[in-house]
Amino acid sequence: MNISIVGTGYVGLVTGICLAAKGHDVVCVDNVAEKVASINDGKSPIHERGLDELLQNVLNKRFRATTDLRKAILDSSVTFIAVGTPYAGDKMDSSYLKAAADEIGASLQESKQYHVVVVKSTVVPGTTKSIVQPALTSASGKSVGNDFGLAMNPEFLREGNAVDDFMDPDRIIIGANDSRVVSVLTELYDVFPSANIITTSIETAEMIKYASNSLLATLISFSNEIGNLSSAIGDIDVVDVMKGVHADRRISPRLPDGTTITPGITTYIEAGCGFGGSCFPKDVKALIAHGKALGEPMRLLSSVIAINEDQPARIIDILGRHFQTLEGARVAILGLAFKPETDDMRESPAIPVVRHLQRMGANIKTYDPIATTEAIKLFGHNNIEYCDSLTTAVAETDAIVLMTRWKEFMRLPELIDGRSPAPLVVDGRRMLSKHSVARYDGIGL
Ligand code: UDX
Repeated sequence: MNISIVGTGYVGLVTGICLAAKGHDVVCVDNVAEKVASINDGKSPIHERGLDELLQNVLNKRFRATTDLRKAILDSSVTFIAVGTPYAGDKMDSSYLKAAADEIGASLQESKQYHVVVVKSTVVPGTTKSIVQPALTSASGKSVGNDFGLAMNPEFLREGNAVDDFMDPDRIIIGANDSRVVSVLTELYDVFPSANIITTSIETAEMIKYASNSLLATLISFSNEIGNLSSAIGDIDVVDVMKGVHADRRISPRLPDGTTITPGITTYIEAGCGFGGSCFPKDVKALIAHGKALGEPMRLLSSVIAINEDQPARIIDILGRHFQTLEGARVAILGLAFKPETDDMRESPAIPVVRHLQRMGANIKTYDPIATTEAIKLFGHNNIEYCDSLTTAVAETDAIVLMTRWKEFMRLPELIDGRSPAPLVVDGRRMLSKHSVARYDGIGL
């Protein structure tokens, strides 16, 4: 199938390259010429495990990028819209979406064949029909249902795992209001023969994406609230509490042979220094704003955000329990991006922690295996040294703060073993055993 994709961010680029790897002919469109040039040179503008290799396999065979949206639309029969929908302070910003739909519509005016437009961007329920459909219809002068079809098909990829998530989808949601669109998209997704395809209305598809992200964010804030109370009570370790909670057979089913399955969801039912990234904070806030506008306040989700925004300060509180002043204290921050395997700093809990330490005059060293370039843009060079190895970062420090769960950080105990005086280890992810280092403290302890 000939497919065009508008927007080459995480969702658009991964979708495009993966669909090409699966045998479709794909053109990705972006209006930033440097991005297009880099993609056509075989270099992905985003860091994503396995993506460059896949790009080089398909480039100029079944995949390329362009700035020419009109030609891309006219040469394809299905167009995915994968532009950003940032949170604009009081609601979702749909301006990029509207602009993309206007341009696609203008190109469709010249098209002689039936075309399907698919919204892949995360959009609050109602948006596809209230913004995309009218923009397409008025710019093209054509009618939905007859000349072109419209669908909503959310993406569930996780940064750092995006290629694997796309290639082995847990679900494919096709939100469409007519059977012709459903059959085009079912054919397109035939390249994933064992996928669980769920067909819904357009609005339901839009809502599934928000409900999924909101549930995961809620589990994290719930765990953090329990962790914070555990700390306040004393003699409770949230890690032990959550171990007990995970053992519930409705969370971790027991097989007849006595073995227990530990589902991936349990990793979201753990306390830590808070969630970040390009999805959870923005999507939950957009849904809260949408609820407010509809007279349906999202009280639970408002608390999920409030708890999350306070959570990085817990790291500062812990440091405050151990140091009379942070001025001049030598502190290593391990992990800068919002999670491992990505260089994405958006809404990373490390940001408020590093900024506070800079204000307090601490001598900061940082180490993140891939996010340093992004971090320098945010923090500059004020009181901060960016190290290129874990060993250099932890040397000659008074405190070491773990902010993300990079596997490499599991080596920390052996690296500081026997050091005198022992540095304080503040475990923001509760990833180390509390007995593995001489001085340990952490969230929910
Ligand atoms: C998320 C959803 O998982 C994905 O389905 C959706 O398409 C986009 O939003 P992403 O933001 O890439 O993906 O990352 P995710 O791995 O879910 O992490 C989000 C936050 O949850 C991070 O701050 C991370 O630290 C935290 N997290 C993640 C956990 O607390 N535990 C985990 O096991 C994974």
